[in-house]
Amino acid sequence: MPFLWRNQQQRTDVARRSDRYIPNLYSRDIGVYEADYQSFIRRTMTELREHRISGHTLLWEASKLRGAGLILDLGVWIGWSTRLLADETGRRVYGFDTFEGIVEDWQVDDGALVKAGALSITEPWAQRLIEDTGVVIEDGIPSALGRDVEFVKGSTYDTLAPFLETRPGPIRLFHMDLDTYESCLHALETCKQRFEVGSILVFDEYLVTNGEMRAFYEFWKKYGFEYRYRAWGLEIMEMNAAMVGSRVRRFLHRAEAIQAQRVLGDGSYVWKVWGKRFWRFWLGAPWSDIRFMLGAVGQRKSVSLEITSLGRLRA
Ligand SMILES: C[S@@+](CC[C@H](N)C(=O)[O-])C[C@H]1O[C@@H](n2cnc3c(N)ncnc32)[C@H](O)[C@@H]1O
Repeated sequence: MPFLWRNQQQRTDVARRSDRYIPNLYSRDIGVYEADYQSFIRRTMTELREHRISGHTLLWEASKLRGAGLILDLGVWIGWSTRLLADETGRRVYGFDTFEGIVEDWQVDDGALVKAGALSITEPWAQRLIEDTGVVIEDGIPSALGRDVEFVKGSTYDTLAPFLETRPGPIRLFHMDLDTYESCLHALETCKQRFEVGSILVFDEYLVTNGEMRAFYEFWKKYGFEYRYRAWGLEIMEMNAAMVGSRVRRFLHRAEAIQAQRVLGDGSYVWKVWGKRFWRFWLGAPWSDIRFMLGAVGQRKSVSLEITSLGRLRA
């Protein structure tokens, strides 16, 4: 496509630097970060490409879960991630949420700004899914619907530490879906004494580089533990549509989700020819990334890892 590049040098530079753009959003140019974080991201993407899975990262991990310990679902919304975790593991799952939305503004890389209070279960979108999936809300908390789940209402800044004080033992599975950098880092810090070798951490929005990935990177730098990536797959959020009973309604919810992602949201790089992201994606991305991203109806931002040594986590 010679008309796209001003000269051969520019073409070569673009090809060489294709790992400069994060595959999910094809938005963030990691050149904006300091050198050390850039190399962390590059290393991460190289390793994650070896661990692609076709399904949902959280459910994949839940189906493989072994060993005793707490299962925490941080960021519950209408409760399906928690219930599905309980279904898949056959164990009790603790879900944490304000149920009144995120507690700080969330700037999604250089894309959307999601304001504090968004993702409350009182929003129309949540209300429709609540109705269509048979969830009942009592005292502002979604029903368990027969599953072994316990919901803890409130900001994790207030609820997580007191909860852990009354529940001894290691954390076996830590599912992070609070979205923002601040809440994620706070939760990691609060749980740090309870991680052990073999603890599984799943981050629903890991490929947002100024959010969960950044929080994990800083946490890892501070405590010098070791980990290995296990899976890179679909977010759990879109499973909400799969829980809709009526086939017609389910179809409509899925169509709405695709519309939100591809047309309005962060998947629009696929078709907005006038944006740089379109060209980065179609001409700059590794072919395997293009296939992986296009194969998703939902979004592939979810990553899991396993702690393999504790470093200074217990210090
Ligand atoms: C993306 S939604 C969770 C989606 C859910 N895991 C699912 O699969 O349906 C994020 C949730 O995190 C909650 N949240 C964000 N920050 C929080 C915090 N610091 N404490 C408690 N809840 C928080 C919001 O209220 C929102 O319901």
